[in-house]
Amino acid sequence: MDIYERIVLDHDTQRELAAALEATSGDSEERRELWDRFKPEAEAHAAAEEQTFYAELIADPETQEQARHSVSEHKEAADLLEELGELDMSSSQWLAKFKTLKDDLEHHMSEEENEVFAQARRVISQQQATKLVDEFEARKSAEL
Ligand SMILES: [Fe+2]
Ligand SMILES: [Fe+2]
Repeated sequence: MDIYERIVLDHDTQRELAAALEATSGDSEERRELWDRFKPEAEAHAAAEEQTFYAELIADPETQEQARHSVSEHKEAADLLEELGELDMSSSQWLAKFKTLKDDLEHHMSEEENEVFAQARRVISQQQATKLVDEFEARKSAEL
């Protein structure tokens, strides 16, 4: 396993949880339960990504700009996650805002898997890409 495969694993989890959440309604037990998994998962993933994968990309002039763009999208998602955490789940606003977050995250993840990974492969050696998995796991566990 390398860092690219490890990141995609998390993305698939996020996609599944987000799709399930989108199908919930009101202040239900199901919505609460899924949200309580989704929010920390999305936050820990972004933090671990920044501390390991993006730390490498920001250090290289060739990938710095793309990395900064991704990190700014993390900030936008973090703000939406916070806002959603404070919103009443039974309000119609909740689902509307969640759909915005879901769309943003889906766009972000496919950009990572396509553009960012392609750029990263030029500056991160395969040996390093493998080594980054352990660091990613450790950082993510610490966040959770
Ligand atoms: Fe990301
Ligand atoms: Fe990601």
